[in-house]
Amino acid sequence: MEKILFVNACVREKSRTLELAKCVLEKLKGEICEVDLSREDIKPLNNKMLSLREEYISENDFSDSMFRYAKEFAAADTIVIAAPYWDLAFPAILKTYLEQTAVCGITFRYKGGVPQGLCCAKRLIYVTTAGGMIYDNLGFEYVKALAQKLFGIDNVLFFKAENLDINGCDVAEILDLVKQEISEQI
Ligand SMILES: Cc1cc2nc3c(=O)[nH]c(=O)nc-3n(C[C@H](O)[C@H](O)[C@H](O)COP(=O)(O)O)c2cc1C
Repeated sequence: MEKILFVNACVREKSRTLELAKCVLEKLKGEICEVDLSREDIKPLNNKMLSLREEYISENDFSDSMFRYAKEFAAADTIVIAAPYWDLAFPAILKTYLEQTAVCGITFRYKGGVPQGLCCAKRLIYVTTAGGMIYDNLGFEYVKALAQKLFGIDNVLFFKAENLDINGCDVAEILDLVKQEISEQI
């Protein structure tokens, strides 16, 4: 059975991004494993954690629980990331999570100095919603670059709903149009 990893970086209770992500997940067939980042105790790497991590990597020992996110990420067949558009990108917790997934020896390796992806995923789907227009799509572009250049996941899809916080906008109508797009493309 296909393994679908759902990385949920939505923060608000009635998240519109989560609503769209659910629509994506309904279309996919397989076993869904969710990582709800609001509930995880993920910390940015500090000197102590980094030293320990480097020691384990140099010994090729990935048994420590610090590698669980990277292992899950590498093993998934499809990855869905849902993250609201915050400060031209996404919530910081997603960056912290991605830092934990980018592990040399699990999600990628270097061959002749060039990164080579080790992830099984055939596609990554990124979903976001924004209060206004997305002019600088820094969150998605960053995830796309990581997926394609480091993790070896070439097929990267993007779904967005914009202008949701503009006075007088019809939120349901905007979301419905994106749901339609999702139905057509997945
Ligand atoms: C901390 C924060 C930062 C935000 N930054 C932006 C922004 O840079 N540009 C924008 O258009 N909307 C911004 N917004 C609005 C959100 O993108 C918008 O409300 C989005 O739909 C929230 O997604 P959600 O309903 O899944 O929580 C921001 C909202 C928050 C709470």
